[in-house]
Amino acid sequence: MRAETHGLEAPAAWFVRYAGLVAPGERLLDVAAGRGRHSRCFASRGVKVTAVDRDAEALAALEGVLGVSCERRDLEADPWPYAAGSFDAVLVSNYLWRPTFDALLATVRAGGLLLYETFMVGHARYGKPSRPEFLLRVNELLERTLPAFEIIAFEQGDDGTAVKQRIAARRLDRG
Ligand SMILES: C[S@@+](CC[C@H](N)C(=O)[O-])C[C@H]1O[C@@H](n2cnc3c(N)ncnc32)[C@H](O)[C@@H]1O
Repeated sequence: MRAETHGLEAPAAWFVRYAGLVAPGERLLDVAAGRGRHSRCFASRGVKVTAVDRDAEALAALEGVLGVSCERRDLEADPWPYAAGSFDAVLVSNYLWRPTFDALLATVRAGGLLLYETFMVGHARYGKPSRPEFLLRVNELLERTLPAFEIIAFEQGDDGTAVKQRIAARRLDRG
């Protein structure tokens, strides 16, 4: 039986590295959560997770997981559903939809955390995604978060299996 059937794939190292920056009891939004490998990781640390995805079958893997609330939504067909400042942390892994990017960033409260990792230009040599709309441009996560966020860490490049970009950033208190 494959682990992915049950949403038990390992969380990406980037999110594990910064998981301690989200305190137990804080609210985290896992955008396009899939089967919820990151939702589980944060919930197991006492974080209150909202996992949103359009795929009901994927979300079903999270049924009954303590501390995880699932929401089935199409984040591209409908307007961004979350109010500005409504989460202490927002996590995005392997997902990009530029039309709602600013609204997603606004969902992080002042002083709250953004954790983002996804594919960037050059990844096509390894396979999908290969369409430009699903690939970050060079430095794009930096350009989108500055100056509203303080950058904790940023990486980009080819690790021999994927070409990705990653950021951990904290929203500054100023409005
Ligand atoms: C590559 S998977 C990543 C899953 C998870 N974030 C992870 O890293 O394990 C992309 C996810 O985006 C979700 N997705 C794609 N389009 C979506 C949309 N319009 N609204 C909500 N979720 C969407 C898919 O259902 C899928 O679960």
